Amino acid sequence: MTPLLELDGVHACYGAAHILHGMSLRVDAGERVALIGRNGVGKTTVVNTVLGLARLTGGQVRLAGQPIQKPRAYMAAQHGIAVVPQGRRIVANLTVEENLLLGAAVGRKGPWNVREIYRLFPILQERAHTPGTALSGGQQQMLAVGRALMVNPALILLDEPTEGLAPVIVDQLADVFGQVASQGTALLMVEQNMNLVVRVAQRYLAMAKGAVVGVGPVSASAEGLKALESHVMV
Ligand SMILES: Nc1ncnc2c1ncn2[C@@H]1O[C@H](COP(=O)(O)OP(=O)(O)OP(=O)(O)O)[C@@H](O)[C@H]1O
Ligand SMILES: [Mg+2]
Repeated sequence: MTPLLELDGVHACYGAAHILHGMSLRVDAGERVALIGRNGVGKTTVVNTVLGLARLTGGQVRLAGQPIQKPRAYMAAQHGIAVVPQGRRIVANLTVEENLLLGAAVGRKGPWNVREIYRLFPILQERAHTPGTALSGGQQQMLAVGRALMVNPALILLDEPTEGLAPVIVDQLADVFGQVASQGTALLMVEQNMNLVVRVAQRYLAMAKGAVVGVGPVSASAEGLKALESHVMV
């Protein structure tokens, strides 16, 4: 099977700051993978490298099997990889609906369209013509997830999708991630909430200092949770 996304010994920098030091990962079709690790280890930089927001200085990035020398956001979308960025990055002067339509810009075919997103998140339909940034934090996260689904992706990169949200919203989003995954979309989720990791992911990669330092299956047992938490506790 050709992996949807592969990083092989990747080094990446912001200016002169060297952040990823031989980072490797692979996500296959339909997989649900968690990327965990303490603050500042380079989890977002993994996402940023795929989007071309951090500079790839060594190793290989492959999208749907194709080596990419200079990754750019549109290339990820063209290869079926959508991103829900950390902090949501809703476009301020666009309405909710216009933000959703941004996701469809690459023109991939699939089951997701504005109507289906409104079925999934009815509140977004109610607020369709208000500025995206006028929404509450939870609603903005729904919008960011909806915008990613509008790509009709094979893989979604979720960077701390529940950061700062109320438990009831976290619960609702966890259900949505489960639903999306059960339809065959692969997920790579950066997450600090280990209860959510256990609910959504099948296996984990733990990072420290810009590389993978641990891998394993995700298990809801006390031992399984302890293994996960050992990688995120200070
Ligand atoms: N634009 C940037 N320019 C320079 N350094 C950066 C930039 N963005 C992040 N860094 C640094 O790169 C390192 C890794 O940051 P990154 O955002 O990838 O961490 P993270 O694992 O996602 O952390 P968190 O859990 O806090 O989101 C940190 O030391 C951070 O300060
Ligand atoms: Mg981060």
